[in-house]
Amino acid sequence: MAPFPDEVDVFTGPHWRMKQLVGLYCDKLSKTNFSNNQDFRSFLRSLCDTFNEFKMHEQIENECIIGLLQQRSCTVYDVHSDNKLSEMLSLFEKGLCSVKSEHEQLNYARQLKERLEAFTQDFLPHMKEEEEVFQPMLMQYFSYEELKGIKKQVMEEHRRP
Ligand code: FEO
Repeated sequence: MAPFPDEVDVFTGPHWRMKQLVGLYCDKLSKTNFSNNQDFRSFLRSLCDTFNEFKMHEQIENECIIGLLQQRSCTVYDVHSDNKLSEMLSLFEKGLCSVKSEHEQLNYARQLKERLEAFTQDFLPHMKEEEEVFQPMLMQYFSYEELKGIKKQVMEEHRRP
């Protein structure tokens, strides 16, 4: 059970979805046949969708949570500033546009695997930090009623198509 009441817990719900997406790309990474051009491209297209969803998640957090917290506490740093989402999206687009032969696909796959693993190793602790460090700060700097409003907005924004 989450340590904070659900109606004011702004991270756990959206993170459930983000962790589900991580699980899905890890699974596809291990099963994709990178020699096959169709499989290769299909995996890269799904990665583009996934990382665009991560990007939207980050924007929602910046606008609805982190920005507000920074107004109340000057010690809150920009938690998404060294985020690798745009670099990862460029890598996927490069794969879709420039990689042609089976040999190139296999070389690219090695790089993709390394970069995805490195990203995952940062992203999971990042979410944990938000849940375990930023949520308690929110509880400290906002009233319960204010947090209920923030949670509602965060969930609505994540549901937008
Ligand atoms: Fe919830 Fe900043 O990822």
